[in-house]
Amino acid sequence: MQDALKKQAAAAAIQYVKNSRIIGVGTGSTVNHFIDLLAPIKHQFEGAVSSSEASTERLLAMGIPVLDLNAVGTLDVYVDGADEINSNLELIKGGGGALTREKIIAAASKSFICIADQSKLVPYLGKFPLPIEVIPMARSYVAREIIALGGQPVWREGFTTDNGNIILDIQQLEILEPRQLENQVNNITGVVTTGLFAERSADVVLLASESGTQTLSLEKQ
Ligand code: A5P
Repeated sequence: MQDALKKQAAAAAIQYVKNSRIIGVGTGSTVNHFIDLLAPIKHQFEGAVSSSEASTERLLAMGIPVLDLNAVGTLDVYVDGADEINSNLELIKGGGGALTREKIIAAASKSFICIADQSKLVPYLGKFPLPIEVIPMARSYVAREIIALGGQPVWREGFTTDNGNIILDIQQLEILEPRQLENQVNNITGVVTTGLFAERSADVVLLASESGTQTLSLEKQ
């Protein structure tokens, strides 16, 4: 059922990309549905900028050209999933470990459309462990700094990001001030980035439930 809802959210995103020349594409099981739905309309756009090796592989398998962000400038639209979403459309992302490239594409896009099933909407961010990408030699140092902030870092052992780094998943955080925490964590030397998307939150969330797909946007609240 949850997978059907992910597909429903992905389908709702198609209308948001119809006039785009180049589409920013995120990572994860919800985005995989989105990529599949792009395939039949691939002649209507030039290509995609991808946030992970996994999405790149899927896009190329569908015959969708994958372009270098450096060569294309600002993107009109970026479509991606999330692990948690609050009512301000701030997100936790990075369950799949692709947070840094996701954050870069989100920053370089005019519009960020987040697609998710309703289970991702939460009153407060932090129940889902907050992923942070860390330079390998800084792992222990960053972990100590996170403990000092009140978090419980867990090394995602055996996992290497597409950028050659490691992930620490921070447990036991009740994130009341997402922007403040994002900036604090990003300021720790050795952190590449945090999976908190508060400084650059989503512009629109398409939230699928059995009764339909709800469109959340800050203008409407
Ligand atoms: C990937 O690193 C993540 O940011 C994903 O966007 C997030 O984990 C959502 O994934 P699902 O669509 O698989 O739930």
